[in-house]
Amino acid sequence: MTPHVIEPDPQAGAAVKAADRAHVFHSWSAQGLIDPLAVAGAEGSYFWDYDGNRYLDFTSGLVYTNIGYQHPKVVAAIQEQAGKLTTFAPAFAIDVRSEAARLIAERTPGDLDKIFFTNGGAEAVENAVRMARLHTGRTKVLSAYRSYHGATSTAINLTGDPRRWASDNGSAGVVRFWAPFLYRSPFYATTEAEESARALQHLEDTIAFEGPATIAAIILETVPGTAGIMTPPPGYLAGVREICDKYGIVFVLDEVMAGFGRTGKWFAAEHFDVVPDLMTFAKGVNSGYVPLGGVAINAEIAATFDKRPYPGGLTYSGHPLACAAAVATIQVMEDEKVVENAARIGETVLGPGLRELAERHPSVGEVRGMGVFWALDLVKNRETREPLVPYNAAGEANAPMAAFGAAAKKNGLWPFVNMNRTHAVPACNVSEAEAKEGLAALDAALAVADEHTA
Ligand SMILES: Cc1ncc(COP(=O)(O)O)c(C=O)c1O
Repeated sequence: MTPHVIEPDPQAGAAVKAADRAHVFHSWSAQGLIDPLAVAGAEGSYFWDYDGNRYLDFTSGLVYTNIGYQHPKVVAAIQEQAGKLTTFAPAFAIDVRSEAARLIAERTPGDLDKIFFTNGGAEAVENAVRMARLHTGRTKVLSAYRSYHGATSTAINLTGDPRRWASDNGSAGVVRFWAPFLYRSPFYATTEAEESARALQHLEDTIAFEGPATIAAIILETVPGTAGIMTPPPGYLAGVREICDKYGIVFVLDEVMAGFGRTGKWFAAEHFDVVPDLMTFAKGVNSGYVPLGGVAINAEIAATFDKRPYPGGLTYSGHPLACAAAVATIQVMEDEKVVENAARIGETVLGPGLRELAERHPSVGEVRGMGVFWALDLVKNRETREPLVPYNAAGEANAPMAAFGAAAKKNGLWPFVNMNRTHAVPACNVSEAEAKEGLAALDAALAVADEHTA
């Protein structure tokens, strides 16, 4: 795409920054230690600051701008909806809400045909868990250590990563287990088949010792995202489906990050031929242009609430502006073959390109992913697989990853950095040229990471 002409305006940028520093309280941050970039605008796969610097966004925001920034058709649909009916309470049937639900339900696998709308991913997870508990009459929920499910009370408790620790007291009945991850196998496995079989045995053992009749749900990200983009080995998710059926446990797949094209299919579950009982979504459903998430519900669980009220709701459930953005986004994704593009870019550009980088850079321990959903696991030493920085490192201990990130930015790439990993997660409609531009910037930044290998 033609690069946007940037008119630098450092004074305006300084004012934005000053008001931010004075009044905005940022997520996940020590407020006095952060230095947020003041962003002047964004279009497609790029954004730019007030000083004339333009960045190729290899993060898709927080992995949600699946059709890039400012898609004119989606912007127009939001404007049109604002002129028609900006908002309306959730108890009413509204054309654009009905249409968004229909379009989503038509794309979700199996009989996930009813949609409960939320404002984002964490609320979707909260409500999926509530539905599972009410449906089964049980309380416990099993989740994976290497996972992220959101930052509200139950969702953060279900989360495996260290952002949970400060809020670990919030929700009763959460039990964590190890999901498969062959590169850093919790089961000392050496093949995918071994990893899958042992992970399933571990899950079944966990269930036996927790008491099957106490477990309402198992929640898994179909492909765990923030935790490292670990594609599950063949047979694993089908095995979890079987275990859930055996014990009457509700199977929840969290597709907040992996859904809506990111893996090169509408939903990642399609790669594994599994249909969960509940599926959470958000982010890519409307590229995050207006906050929206939801739970896709199967017929059996939906029927639980046919005669009995569902005890949950949100003022903005199915907000017309958010739904209009979803309808337009799904239309754009169909018309412009965005899902197919994500698959093709993964197979022909990002996959081969990242593997080629791994051959030349000793800091790359493993390349994994699919579609526009890739992780580079950076290591100090390929033989020992010791991570480039320790788990949850901060300050000086995190210096190698900070240096990598700074080098990427210097080369015009905004990288996704989490612990010892960088994720290549551009928009699903990223062009071949943009993806190659990203690979070239990663190449330069990895040379900096290489300096920290031993
Ligand atoms: C898999 C997954 N679930 C849930 C969430 C939480 O979504 P939100 O931040 O919209 O609440 C995220 C956010 O990154 C996610 O990746």
